[in-house]
Amino acid sequence: MARVAVIGAGPSGLAQLQAFAAARSSGVEVPEVVCFEKQSDWGGLWNYTWRTGLDQYGDPVHGSMYRYLWSNGPKECLEFADYPFDTHFGKPIPSFPPRAALYDYITGRAMQSGVRDQIRFDSAVRWVGFSDDRFQLTVESRADGRTSTEEFDHVIVATGHFSTPNAPEYPGFATFPGRIMHSHDVRDAQEFTGKDLLILGSSYSAEDIALQSKKYGARSVTVAYRNAPMGFGWPDGIVEVPKLERVEGRTAHFVDGTSRDVDAIVLCTGYRHWFPFMEDELRLQTTNVLYPDNLYKGVVWTANPKLMYLGMQDQYYTFTMFDAQAWYARDVVLGRATLPSRAEMDADIASWRARQDTLSNPAEDIDFQTDYVRDLLKVIDYPAFDLDMVRDHFNTWEHHKEESITGYRDRSFASPCTGSVGPLHHTPWWDEPDDTLETFLR
Ligand SMILES: Cc1cc2nc3c(=O)[nH]c(=O)nc-3n(C[C@H](O)[C@H](O)[C@H](O)COP(=O)(O)OP(=O)(O)OC[C@H]3O[C@@H](n4cnc5c(N)ncnc54)[C@H](O)[C@@H]3O)c2cc1C
Ligand SMILES: NC(=O)c1ccc[n+]([C@@H]2O[C@H](COP(=O)([O-])OP(=O)(O)OC[C@H]3O[C@@H](n4cnc5c(N)ncnc54)[C@H](OP(=O)(O)O)[C@@H]3O)[C@@H](O)[C@H]2O)c1
Repeated sequence: MARVAVIGAGPSGLAQLQAFAAARSSGVEVPEVVCFEKQSDWGGLWNYTWRTGLDQYGDPVHGSMYRYLWSNGPKECLEFADYPFDTHFGKPIPSFPPRAALYDYITGRAMQSGVRDQIRFDSAVRWVGFSDDRFQLTVESRADGRTSTEEFDHVIVATGHFSTPNAPEYPGFATFPGRIMHSHDVRDAQEFTGKDLLILGSSYSAEDIALQSKKYGARSVTVAYRNAPMGFGWPDGIVEVPKLERVEGRTAHFVDGTSRDVDAIVLCTGYRHWFPFMEDELRLQTTNVLYPDNLYKGVVWTANPKLMYLGMQDQYYTFTMFDAQAWYARDVVLGRATLPSRAEMDADIASWRARQDTLSNPAEDIDFQTDYVRDLLKVIDYPAFDLDMVRDHFNTWEHHKEESITGYRDRSFASPCTGSVGPLHHTPWWDEPDDTLETFLR
């Protein structure tokens, strides 16, 4: 029987296990599937850890999430069509849940479909090679440090790409008297209470860590953008300034000639796609874009279609997109999806990437990723949901953020799966310090 290795048990890897489980429950014979997860539990980034730096076994910590992290998009835009929120929670819940609620939801579906016993925890994939038409996976069992090599017919890489920091250095960092850290290592915004904080970057981490820090008591937050400001109507105490030029002592100097004294610096400068365990010919190399090169349908490694990657795109869509990709990858493995020639795959990728080059605003990005997800949904048997509604939600959400960056989470949206509308949360997000599941569901 063919063997399939899935690397990673975060939302993407779990989507893959779910896809095979769905086929199995409809009577289809599926190959043996083994999922390797280097952490001790599932959920990927949503499996919160207090650790930073190295973990208990000396590996880089995977987790990049921090306490008090709430969904930054409407939950309706990531709802599993085969497992709606109402089904999981037994009632409609607000549209912007805290991390614990989304973790509960992701793992709730996986629990229900009984895929946990396909996962080998504390198992880090150290090397993937390919010869004699099969993959060789060298895996370390981290608890006892023993490595072993097994052969597989297909490999599906679902290891995420928001864990290895892109950490630029600016002049003066070496003598800065305070803490300099990457957003990957932020765990609790209360660390900055009473402090003047400098944030570098102008994307989601910069936006949310600036807000978090102010919400939990930072004295001031200065956000330095490299190319363009986010331009939101920030609450008092948060300002955006142009690019950092240098730091002298605790004084940060910006390219417009202004300066500010700061106590700490957080690099919200993004992440690197990082697959040191893949041999060169199999390794995806890309920046954080909506359509990485060399992946047909955003999934299939064209140089060796027995290898697939999930979730490697920049992400408006998340769980729904991972599901669509996983269903497609499953169908490639099962031989239900027929791949065209290498030249046709390359031409298809090139046409998506040519369109990607024309995108110039979030609405166009959202349309692009919607069309990408639609392209996958057309060829798989994923349960139906209203994709156009999701696209409209994303656009509405963007407008809400422009109207109020502290208030956009106090909105509710309709489910594209059930039509049910989430109630408003009992407390405005900006006034709610408690992110526990119990308080959220109260
Ligand atoms: C700070 C932050 C906040 C976010 N907030 C949101 C949000 O609000 N809403 C949203 O939809 N998305 C959010 N995201 C996006 C996030 O990328 C997705 O939600 C999702 O976690 C991606 O799932 P994944 O399975 O592809 O990757 P991950 O969640 O990163 O999971 C990958 C898994 O692979 C495992 N792994 C890695 N290497 C190996 C190896 N060599 N061997 C074995 N296992 C390995 C890891 O341990 C991990 O469990 C956020 C991301 C970050 C960084
Ligand atoms: N739930 C939440 O609230 C939440 C919070 C945080 C993150 N997230 C998620 O986490 C993921 C990653 O987001 P991210 O913001 O970390 O990464 P990102 O979206 O890839 O953005 C990286 C940022 O770093 C900047 N940058 C890169 N190199 C730089 C340099 N040398 N100097 C200055 N700036 C530099 C980029 O600037 P340019 O724009 O100028 O290129 C960009 O603004 C997203 O999917 C996001 O949704 C969610």
